[in-house]
Amino acid sequence: MPDPTTGDRFHPTDPGFLQDPYPTHARLRREVPIAWYAPWDAWLVTRHSDVDALLRDRRLGRVSTDRPKAVDPAHAPFAVIQAGSLLEIEPPDHTRVKQAVHDVFTPRHVRALQGRIEALVERLLDDLEHRPEREADLLRDFAEPIPVTVIADLLGVPEADRGALLPWSKAIIGMFEPERSADAEAAAVAAAGEFAAYVRHLMAAKRAAPGEDLISRMVVMHDADGARLTEGEVVANAILFLNAGHEAVVNVSGNGLLALLRHPEQLARVRADPALLRPAIEEMMRYDTPLQFFERFVLEDLTYAGHAWPAGTKLALHFAAANRDPEVFAEPDRFDVARDPNPHLAFGLGLHYCIGAPLARLELGVALGGLLRRLPDLRLTGAAPRYHPKNVFRYLTELRVAY
Ligand code: HEM
Repeated sequence: MPDPTTGDRFHPTDPGFLQDPYPTHARLRREVPIAWYAPWDAWLVTRHSDVDALLRDRRLGRVSTDRPKAVDPAHAPFAVIQAGSLLEIEPPDHTRVKQAVHDVFTPRHVRALQGRIEALVERLLDDLEHRPEREADLLRDFAEPIPVTVIADLLGVPEADRGALLPWSKAIIGMFEPERSADAEAAAVAAAGEFAAYVRHLMAAKRAAPGEDLISRMVVMHDADGARLTEGEVVANAILFLNAGHEAVVNVSGNGLLALLRHPEQLARVRADPALLRPAIEEMMRYDTPLQFFERFVLEDLTYAGHAWPAGTKLALHFAAANRDPEVFAEPDRFDVARDPNPHLAFGLGLHYCIGAPLARLELGVALGGLLRRLPDLRLTGAAPRYHPKNVFRYLTELRVAY
């Protein structure tokens, strides 16, 4: 039997698809749930049961030894920020590096940050409340500063340097888009080089005067035992934490607040019952998933659901499509702030499950709680919000509101 392909169902650069990919996902899930898409040299996997099973399967990994990346010398600075990053290594290195940092991200450690996050959210809301025009871009003026400040504090990035974090991160994530331009690649490489140089400079400062922050801790650990954490791993993971620590949180806020504001009856339910804050945040992540898919490689020859995949085969595991699978979610296209259970895959699953999930949930809960309490007349304004034309990272250009 020939391999099932996406056929005429999938056009990842189509502007309509990029604004609303969900009808296409539904068709793929229904008609060709595991389908070959030649331009990406990958299988698209869209059903929840398959994405869930394959994320847990240790015969797949994020890095393939059978498909060594041919590093273009012009991309060398990018390879530096990947080599040793948790997202780019497998056991035993993954286990060792994760052990070195994981306690900073445990729910108990993260809960200790609650007071500081609350104070930050109140400050941002004071600022919004005092604007005479009572209008804002909720992304720039509220959603972005929260996780950027929190992760920069955790890592020990001085306030004066934080302005560069967002542009670096935005340029770097461009490299993970399958439909990227040569300009986007060049911008990602340049940002990677500057960011790595900055982190090295910061490491030297921490070495001279260590603090309580995570970069200081990693530097101390590396200096005590370079086999436990190499210098390259400190650099790559500092950059991973700084990027991952805000990127998806901002995008959940934007995509999720848009969903809430477009469903006033759901917004009213959360306002009336603070116990719905938690399930509402899970629903925001499910309904308009910020990281739509990530790749995996087959590590050893494997047959799955009738497909014979040699080592090196690439899969795109589609979290967003899985999160609207009617086999798992009743009326999946309905935004329901009380949805329970909600086994969405927005944080991934298995070995690479998001280390920042407790922190993200805390930030999102404090932010949404504060916003609903302090701005009772929050509403969309201006032109209909637009998404950036990306396949992996789904996020709005702005979110204009009045209140
Ligand atoms: C709502 C916000 C967030 C979402 C939706 C999200 C999503 C994800 C997903 C889907 C993965 C797995 C990637 C894969 O399996 O290929 C992941 C991994 C990761 N995330 Fe998050 N993330 C969020 C917030 C955060 C935060 C706040 C941090 C803080 C540092 C963070 C750090 C990481 C790291 C380090 C990994 C790699 C873990 C590993 O490979 O072991 N994320 N995230």
